[in-house]
Amino acid sequence: MKNILTSLLFLLFLNSLAAQSRQKPVSERVDSVMALMTLEEKIGQMTLFTTDWGSTGPTIRPGYREDIKEGRCGALFNAHGVAFTRELQRIAVEESRLKIPLIFGYDVIHGFKTIFPIPLGEAASWDMKAVKASAGVAAAEASAAGLHWTFAPMVDISRDPRWGRIMEGAGEDPVLASAIAAQRVQGFQGIGTFGEPNRILACVKHFAAYGAPFGGRDYNTVDMSERMFREVYLPPYQAAIAAGARTVMTAFNELNGVPATANKWLLTDLLRNELRFKGMVVTDYTSINELVPHGVAANEKHASELAVLAGADMDMQGAVYQRFLKELVEEGKVPIARVDEAVRRILRLKFELGLFDDPYRYCDEKKEKSVILSDHNRAIARDVARKSIVLLRNENILPLSKEVKKLAVVGPLAADKDNLIGFWSAAGEGQHCVSLVDGIRNKLGTGVELLTAKGCEITGNDRSGFAEAVEQASQADAVVVAIGESREMSGEAASRADISLPGVQEELVKALMGTGKPLVVVLMNGRPLTIPWLGENAPALLETWWLGTEAGNAIADVLFGDYNPSGKLPVSFPRHVGQIPVFYSHKATGRPYQPNNKWRSKYLDITNEPLFPFGYGLSYTTFEISAPAPDKTKFRSGEVVKVHVKVTNTGNREGEEVVQLYIHDKVASVTRPVKELRAFQKVSLKPGETKDLLFVLFEKDFAFLDQNLEWTIEPGEFEIMVGNSVDNVKAVVVVRVE
Ligand code: BGC
Repeated sequence: MKNILTSLLFLLFLNSLAAQSRQKPVSERVDSVMALMTLEEKIGQMTLFTTDWGSTGPTIRPGYREDIKEGRCGALFNAHGVAFTRELQRIAVEESRLKIPLIFGYDVIHGFKTIFPIPLGEAASWDMKAVKASAGVAAAEASAAGLHWTFAPMVDISRDPRWGRIMEGAGEDPVLASAIAAQRVQGFQGIGTFGEPNRILACVKHFAAYGAPFGGRDYNTVDMSERMFREVYLPPYQAAIAAGARTVMTAFNELNGVPATANKWLLTDLLRNELRFKGMVVTDYTSINELVPHGVAANEKHASELAVLAGADMDMQGAVYQRFLKELVEEGKVPIARVDEAVRRILRLKFELGLFDDPYRYCDEKKEKSVILSDHNRAIARDVARKSIVLLRNENILPLSKEVKKLAVVGPLAADKDNLIGFWSAAGEGQHCVSLVDGIRNKLGTGVELLTAKGCEITGNDRSGFAEAVEQASQADAVVVAIGESREMSGEAASRADISLPGVQEELVKALMGTGKPLVVVLMNGRPLTIPWLGENAPALLETWWLGTEAGNAIADVLFGDYNPSGKLPVSFPRHVGQIPVFYSHKATGRPYQPNNKWRSKYLDITNEPLFPFGYGLSYTTFEISAPAPDKTKFRSGEVVKVHVKVTNTGNREGEEVVQLYIHDKVASVTRPVKELRAFQKVSLKPGETKDLLFVLFEKDFAFLDQNLEWTIEPGEFEIMVGNSVDNVKAVVVVRVE
C-alpha cells in the first residue's frame, strides 16, 4: 500500500514538473533543449528527408529510419497515415538520444484525400470563404493522417501558361493572389495562435519569382526588374507572411543572377529584415545541391556554406548540411550562432505543434477514419468545385433541362476519374472521384438514357472512335463532350511549348457539332489553353479545370442549373502561344494598340487581345453594374476614397457576380499599367435585386514605386473603373491634389 502511494506521489510530481515546464515561455523551453544538443544533433534538426513513399525528385537516401534513430534528421516528408507516422515518430522519441519528435510534412496542395479543385481553378471562384474552407478541410484531413506541415500555399504569380505549375497558383494578378494567399494560410494554420490539432503549418513557396521562368520552362532562369518583382511578384508572399505563415520555401530558380537558395538579399535582407518574417526557411528539393550546376558553388560543401549563410534553415533532401555543415562550423566558415538560430526556429515549431508534450498528438486512428473523405468534407469540396467553374460561352444551350430523355456524354474525359484529381493530389485517389458520367447519373437518376463513348484519347491521332461518338450524339437530345489535358500534362516539370488541346480532341468536337445537336464542351485542364476555334464556335463552353473528388457532381450542378456559374478567370487565356506573356495589366507603350494601324505595338498576324480576358466569366442570369460613384472627385494625402457601386440582377435567376474595381494612374513619373485590380466583391443577388457595394480605396491603392524604387503617390488624375471583367468596365476620374 505504502509503495503504491509513493509511486502515485512520484507520478503526480512528474506531471506537475511537466505542467510547470509547459507553462514556461517557448523560448526557454527551446533553450533547455538546445543546451543538451551536440553540433551533429543540431545539424540533424536542420535536415529534412523524404521517406520511400514517393518523391518529387531523386531519392538519394533510402536509409531514413537509421537517420531518425541517429538524430540525423529532424523532419520527414512523404510519410502519412497514423500508423506510418506513429511508427516513425516512435523511432525518434524512443530510440534517438535526445528523443526530439519529428515534424511530418507533405505536399497537401489542394486537399489531402478529399481533393479540391486545383489552386488555379479554385482562384477562379474569387470566393474567399470557399478558398479558406478548402484549405481548412485539407488541414483537418492531413492532420488526422499524422501530418503537421504542408508545403503550400504556392503563391507564385504566373503570366505564362506554358509553365506547368501555373496550375498551382492563383493566376496573374497580385491583388487577387494576395487575398487568396492569406486565406489559404489561415485555412491551413488557423488565425492567431497556432497549435490546434486540426491545423497544420503552412509553407509559402517558392521564394521568390519562380513563376516567371524564361520561355515558361520549369526551373529556368528568372530575370526581372526590382520594380516588377516588388509590384507584382512579391505581394502574395508578403500577404501570406502577414497572415502568419510559419514557414517559407526557397525556389529552384535564380533571380537576377543569384539562385534563390543562395540569395542573401532574398532570404535575409528582404525576408527577415524587411518583411519581418520570424519563422523557418526550408529549401526546395535538393536546391542547395543544385547551386553547383547553377554555377555559383564549386562543390556541395561550398553550396552548403552559401545556402546557410544566405538564410536557409533546413535542407530538403540534399543531405548537404548533414555532410558538410559540421566541417564548415569547425573551419570557422559558418558561425555556430547561425546554426543555433536555425535550430531554434525549428524547435520552436515543434513546441508550437505541441509535439514535445505529446509526440503522437496527431496520431488518432479513430479521428483518421471519421475525418478523411467524410460526407461533410465531400460536401464542401462539391461546393468549392462548382464555384470554380467558369462559363466561357453559352449560345442559349445551358442550363440543360433535367427532363432530357437521351443525353450523349462523350469524350476522353467523360467517364474518367483518375485525371480529375489533377497534379499534386496528395493522398487523393481517382477511385474516390465522381466522374462526369456518374455526376450526371446522380443528378438525373434512371429517367435518362446516357449514351457514352470516348471518341478518342486525350493524346494521339486515332480517330477510329469518332464514328461511335457521333452515332451516340446523333441519337441524343443533347451532347456533353469532356476534353482537355491529362493530369501529368501540367504541374511540376510539365511545361508545354504548344498549349493547344492535345491530340484530335478538337476534331472530335467538330465532328460532334456536325450532328447539329445542342452541344456543351466541358474542358478539364490545368492551365489556360489556346483554343481560339472552340472559344469562337462552341455552342457552350465550360472551363472546369481539374475539380477534384466531387468534379462530376459539381459539373452536373452547373449543367442542369442547380448552381448558376459564378467563376471568373484568374488569368488571361491567350489566343496563340506567340502572345505569351499576355496579361491585362500591361503598359500602354508609346504606340498603343490599334488593330488597323501597322505602326503600332502589335502583331501582323493576330490581335493583341487574349481569347478570354482576366476577370471574365458568364452566368445564367445578367447583371447591370453602375458606373462607380466616388464620394469625392478630389482627394489629398491621408484621405480615403469611398466608391459606391450598384449591382442589379437583371435576369430571372438567382446568381452571383464578382464586381471588380480597377485603377489607372493616367500620368506618372514612371509608366503605369493600363489597368490594375484594386478590389473585388462577390455578391449573390435574387432576380431583380439590387445591392449597394462600397469599395474603400486607401493611399496604398494609388501608390507605385518611383524611379528610386520608393513607394509614392503623385498628384494627378486616376481613372477608377468598375465592371464584371477587365474588358467590361465603366470609369470615372478622381484627382489627387497636392
Ligand atoms: C517542389 C516543391 C515541393 C517539393 C517536395 C519540389 O520538387 O518544387 O514545391 O514542395 O518538391 O515535394
